[in-house]
Amino acid sequence: MKKVVVFTGAGISAESGIKTFRANDGLWEEYNIAEVATPEGWRSNPKLVLDFYNKRRKQVLEAKPNMAHIALAELQNHFDVQIITQNIDDLHERSGSKKVLHLHGLITEARSTIGDKKVSKIDGWKLSIGDKCELGSQLRPHIVWFGEAVPNMELANMKAEEADIFIVIGTSLNVYPAAGITEFVSDDADKYLIDPNADKLNVPNGFKIIVSNACEGVPALVNKLIK
Ligand code: APR
Repeated sequence: MKKVVVFTGAGISAESGIKTFRANDGLWEEYNIAEVATPEGWRSNPKLVLDFYNKRRKQVLEAKPNMAHIALAELQNHFDVQIITQNIDDLHERSGSKKVLHLHGLITEARSTIGDKKVSKIDGWKLSIGDKCELGSQLRPHIVWFGEAVPNMELANMKAEEADIFIVIGTSLNVYPAAGITEFVSDDADKYLIDPNADKLNVPNGFKIIVSNACEGVPALVNKLIK
């Protein structure tokens, strides 16, 4: 079976009602990255950080996978599909994608802040000050913050190297090391990029550009690949 590796960003979940980060009305216009998405922010005001991610979690739990997520799940009937996502939502999993690697963590999970940093599922939308792990440490969202290592990056780059077909969807390709994954894709692979603002992006060489929203562009490309 041919291998398809799909690299997704916030744009694939935009039509499920989840805001992207860098649009004019994006999350990073409304919030200060240093305050809510860094280890320093967590140390200086953990409640602010928990509140920020509680809002995100509530929104994710209420959101549904869209036609783009669903089309990628259907692609599994024809190809060996590996999703590599920068997104912290679980919409790929909920649409039925089996192999999903999260680079920046998962909003529905919490992590201990001492010991082996054990990860646990969060019950509901709220993580509060005083919610502790078995060893007694305050739980934090299982998110990779700015300034932290990306533990799944090496594995993701290895998977990208194996791709026969590599598809980028809905990412501004601004955040490293994640965006560097395109450098690992073989010259022989078929490469596609779907984004409504593709003309404003710094698209690496060799990609066929599809200027489109995910909900139109992804099902159309999936149909083409299946045929
Ligand atoms: N369909 C497809 N793409 C879309 C859509 C849509 N309906 N709407 C917007 N986009 C595109 C935008 O044109 C943009 O190129 O999605 C991209 C979103 O870019 P960003 O907001 O920068 O999101 P992303 O690239 O995922 O951010 C990377 O930055 O803040 C961190 O950790 C966070 O994982 C995130 C990382």
